[in-house]
Amino acid sequence: MPESTPRDAIALLKEDHRTVEDLFEQFEKASGDGRKEKLAQQICLELSVHATIEEEIFYPACEGKVEEDLLKESYVEHDAAKILIAQISSGAGESDEFFDSKVKVLQEEIEHHVEEEEKRMEGLFAQARKAGLDMDALGEQLAARKAELTETYKATGIPKPELKTMDEVAV
Ligand SMILES: [Fe+2]
Ligand SMILES: [Fe+2]
Repeated sequence: MPESTPRDAIALLKEDHRTVEDLFEQFEKASGDGRKEKLAQQICLELSVHATIEEEIFYPACEGKVEEDLLKESYVEHDAAKILIAQISSGAGESDEFFDSKVKVLQEEIEHHVEEEEKRMEGLFAQARKAGLDMDALGEQLAARKAELTETYKATGIPKPELKTMDEVAV
């Protein structure tokens, strides 16, 4: 679907999920010549933009309309993923002996998180839909912010993620 086609918030967010799933699949099959590194960077960029638009626009709109625990868990799952994203996007790339493992674990975390958002009936999206959120208006806001962030991150790199639910951890 072309970027300019207006679509509702859930359709847009689900489309992002499919894009990232596809990139993870390509990563699994890729080898050599920095191909994996390139794909990993693309995954980190997509996920950073996606997490930001959800946290800035979609999740706040869900406040008070969906199960509170589910929404809180979503923020924590984002934060957990951001730690790996920061590692992968600014790390040593393919020369890190744990590089593939980090991407794999990120993929597993995201699969779980996407399931929580998309689950039929009781998932976050289903609850938001049932609560009657204005998905067309939200879709427009998400699309505009997504375009803006993608351009910035492509130009200046993926920023250090901001954690919402935990302090910086020193280990
Ligand atoms: Fe999502
Ligand atoms: Fe999310």
